[in-house]
Amino acid sequence: MEFAADRVADDARLDLVIGRRSVRRYRPEAVTSTMIDALLKIAVSAPSAHNRQPWRFRIVTGEKEKAALADGMGQRLFRDRLADGNDAQIIEADVDRSRQRITGAPALIVVCMSLQDMDRYPDPKRSEAERLMAVQSVAMAGQNLLLAIHVAGLGGCWLCGPLFCPDVVTSVLGLPNDWQPQGLVTLGWLDGKGKPFTRRSLDNVCRYSTDHPAVESTLAPMPSGSECGVS
Ligand SMILES: Cc1cc2nc3c(=O)[nH]c(=O)nc-3n(C[C@H](O)[C@H](O)[C@H](O)COP(=O)(O)O)c2cc1C
Repeated sequence: MEFAADRVADDARLDLVIGRRSVRRYRPEAVTSTMIDALLKIAVSAPSAHNRQPWRFRIVTGEKEKAALADGMGQRLFRDRLADGNDAQIIEADVDRSRQRITGAPALIVVCMSLQDMDRYPDPKRSEAERLMAVQSVAMAGQNLLLAIHVAGLGGCWLCGPLFCPDVVTSVLGLPNDWQPQGLVTLGWLDGKGKPFTRRSLDNVCRYSTDHPAVESTLAPMPSGSECGVS
């Protein structure tokens, strides 16, 4: 089949990809485990390094557990920000907002990473590369999950909070030892829309090789090594 750039731009399926927005407010109706399972099946169809599938998911729907998680994370946020020298009232307002985002979502999916099945190396450099491959794989499952949520007509938002207090998340949720919290996806029925779509232009973030036929692209060529900090 011939590639047609205008068809890519107009394709309704890709419209679903670019139409996804982070949604932070939800109606109170429950999200069932049948729905969550269906979404997670799409999440785990993501590619992963060596196909080791290092993603793990902990689903939180109970009100008590949501509150315990929000409180634990909030206390840590408060403590850390106070140590940074931030104003206590401002921190409290931020903690409240973050608590509301977590407890106000009908369901939470804590996205975790396990290194159990990843390769092991004797040196730190390759060990770190392998760890990053697991992080990248989990992130791909996370994007699949967000897209599935959107296509299903629900809303979701990835929150980074667990990365800053993995010990709190592990202890409140009783996670297995090898499950490392990477993020938290809030999930529910949309109440309003997400924020407007804003992105840097492709020209800002993309470079072609200098000998790429210019007529095919309106983007700037790759700067030479010295210009882009590569020698
Ligand atoms: C790794 C990562 C961490 C994020 N952490 C948060 C967060 O802690 N709180 C939040 O409200 N949104 C968070 N987001 C959502 C981003 O703010 C959002 O994706 C971005 O503003 C673009 O908006 P859009 O998703 O609606 O296109 C995070 C997104 C990613 C990918």
